[in-house]
Amino acid sequence: LALVTSTGCGSDFGLRFPGSLPVKDPGSFDTPLPIPPLAESRLVDGVRVFSLDAQEGSAELLPGIQTPTWGFNGDHLGPTLRAARGEAVAVEVTNRLPETTTVHWHGMHLPPAMDGGPHQPIQAGASWRPAWTIDQPAATLWYHPHPHGATEKHVYRGLAGMFILDDPAAPAFGLPDRYGVDDIPVIVQDKRFDADGGLVQDSQGNEIGLLGDTILTNGAFGAVQEVTTERVRLRLLNGSTARTYDFAIDDGREVALVATDGGLLEAPHRTDHVRLSPGERAEIVVDMEPGSDAMLISRPPDLGDVLLPGAYGGQDEFEVLRLRAAPALQASAQVADAFDSFGIDSFDATRTRAFEVQNREINGRRMAMDRIDEVIELGTTEIWEVTNRDGFPHNWHVHDVQFEVLSIDGEPPPPELGGRKDTVYLEPRRLYRLIMRFEDYADERHPYMMHCHLLLHEDQGLMAQFLVTRSGLDPEPGQFDPPAG
Ligand code: C2O
Ligand code: CU
Repeated sequence: LALVTSTGCGSDFGLRFPGSLPVKDPGSFDTPLPIPPLAESRLVDGVRVFSLDAQEGSAELLPGIQTPTWGFNGDHLGPTLRAARGEAVAVEVTNRLPETTTVHWHGMHLPPAMDGGPHQPIQAGASWRPAWTIDQPAATLWYHPHPHGATEKHVYRGLAGMFILDDPAAPAFGLPDRYGVDDIPVIVQDKRFDADGGLVQDSQGNEIGLLGDTILTNGAFGAVQEVTTERVRLRLLNGSTARTYDFAIDDGREVALVATDGGLLEAPHRTDHVRLSPGERAEIVVDMEPGSDAMLISRPPDLGDVLLPGAYGGQDEFEVLRLRAAPALQASAQVADAFDSFGIDSFDATRTRAFEVQNREINGRRMAMDRIDEVIELGTTEIWEVTNRDGFPHNWHVHDVQFEVLSIDGEPPPPELGGRKDTVYLEPRRLYRLIMRFEDYADERHPYMMHCHLLLHEDQGLMAQFLVTRSGLDPEPGQFDPPAG
């Protein structure tokens, strides 16, 4: 049995699972990293159609222990959806869970009725078939439930998967691109287990939510990825409900950060660490020496000027994924030293809005399904000024758009925040100026969401709704009809 008895600072449940933080035995990382299968699809009248069934299951998250879980098309997590820019896609989602859920396409530019937020509930036993056309740069997106008030629970139980977008018209830039070989999805989540191996979902009074003591990568503890090429690209997704990571290689080497939430940076950024808060993604390219080992770890993240730094996982360090290079490695292409440039012109901005985040509220209000908080005119560019007024972590996620960080407290953002973003960590008491364009989809009836992606906060009401309309004016009474329940 894989349980070991407590050696001091273990969990509160009397037993210490092998993952109890911190892990200091990298040699034990010998479970092959599970690679989520690429979702099958069929072409129907030119539309690429995927199927996702949300279902209950049981998975071996820890060696030799069965844990009750939820998953898409399987017991835990979900397949990787993959589609190309310009393609029409549809997803047949069926809810085989005992309760209502939704499926949201995080990072996707799409009509709000297809967004899968709290206004697109799928009752138990029911199906939903959103359809849209992929119209954005290549990127690592993801999908997860978004039922109002229960997102944390649904994601924590295992409902999450990647959605990789390709852009056939864009250059390859020498980036490793063989899925599961040198282009590896890495979904990082922290969990807490009870003595029977069940998932414990209890934030134990921590105001940011649950901090697990066991780190899973693609649903496995202590995973190793065999590397057969000189370079390997890791698509990192922080799929945790509350924990912020600061990813690094244990020997301190630099990696090339090539992409963030919404796609490639303008150029690779050499760095020795990458901080990701819940919902954020980063693509890094790691150089490997033949026959060598490298451990992807998470160092204690700099959470900014938080009160009680230790309370938010800010002192935790642990192993995440071992990379083990073969004695001889296949040559990899040279990664380009510049990618495409992009940028939203701030002279185009016609409106600035301010958002204060405090006490599970945005501008003093909690989420209400029947209240529209902002109305935005289609085709305009806006600057949003977002401030975390609390002394603890939050982040900020906006549906539909990829924004750019213009400044943080008036200073230019660091290179790792220089790309297209849909989620950004909010250090306490700093002002983040974000710029974004609202294009293509006007709809008086269906709102998009903005919210904290610490999912307990989202569930508790740190979320607001915006409409994008042709007029930019408040909808007439009766135009916006929130669904009953
Ligand atoms: Cu990843 Cu509104 O969510
Ligand atoms: Cu928050």
